[in-house]
Amino acid sequence: CAGGGNTAGGGGGDDKVITVGFAQTGSESGWRSANTESMKEAFSEANGFNLIFNAADNKPEAQIAAVRSFINQGVDAIVLAPIVTDGWDDVLKEAKDANIPVILEDRTVSAPEDLYASWVGLDFKKEGETAGKWVADNFGKTPTNLVVLEGTTGSSAATDRAAGFDEAIKGTDIKVLDSQTGNFTRAEGKTVMEGFLQKYGSTINVLFAHNDDMGLGALDAIKAAGLKPGTDIKIVTIDAVKDGMTALADGEFNYIVECNPLLGDKVAEVVKKVVAGESVDKSYIVEDQAFDQEQAKAALPDRKY
Ligand code: AHR
Repeated sequence: CAGGGNTAGGGGGDDKVITVGFAQTGSESGWRSANTESMKEAFSEANGFNLIFNAADNKPEAQIAAVRSFINQGVDAIVLAPIVTDGWDDVLKEAKDANIPVILEDRTVSAPEDLYASWVGLDFKKEGETAGKWVADNFGKTPTNLVVLEGTTGSSAATDRAAGFDEAIKGTDIKVLDSQTGNFTRAEGKTVMEGFLQKYGSTINVLFAHNDDMGLGALDAIKAAGLKPGTDIKIVTIDAVKDGMTALADGEFNYIVECNPLLGDKVAEVVKKVVAGESVDKSYIVEDQAFDQEQAKAALPDRKY
């Protein structure tokens, strides 16, 4: 294995340095930056790792190529934050044939479970449900027009959040006027919201954005249309990164469901166990919470990301 024979520089005793290839999605959002930082910190040399990092600019083919290149380099383990759910079977089989364990972080894949060792991530469906329940509880009894900014099409984060949200608003007076992808980015969140506003104007009552960044992009579009975000259009998002929490504390957002990006330590622990041949669970779900405006004001000073 690459890195074999060396010892960890951080007092790791007999532990061998573990070479890990990490295939990140890209750098689409504040959440993603915090996740990358958490992973780089946890997979540091001091912790006994040699990290090979790749960010695929949210292009699934580039991410598959990165995983293939990790296999060719003979890394000890591969960590994958899959951009989309489908299309992984072949390359995961190649990793298995090469005896290289794959650990998923953040999002999931549709490939058979025996093709990866473990997954560390979040309950995206529950996040969507929590957001939908807040909308249903606050607006479900009067006719309400809602628009949705979806995450990357085909990603488990977008698919599962949509499923959870739709379930929670079922049977209420909420009408979904439109739902389009903004690819989890501020720029596309703004552009798609501009389109919604041109089409539906001030008939829009509520915006559900699958992440903070798209909601933050939408703020610009809403203000440019002469409307007041948080008042004329209520906004619920997912992530709870600092910029999102600031918008919530300032009254421009109304509710945020957290998606915790600080997965690095848990993923590193799982990788060490897998490489050592110890048994691990098939999945580890990290808990999320949710914030209203008052809770955001209280939480902001200690927010780490
Ligand atoms: O997969 C998690 C999602 O991906 C986050 O909610 C979003 O901000 C990120 O880009």
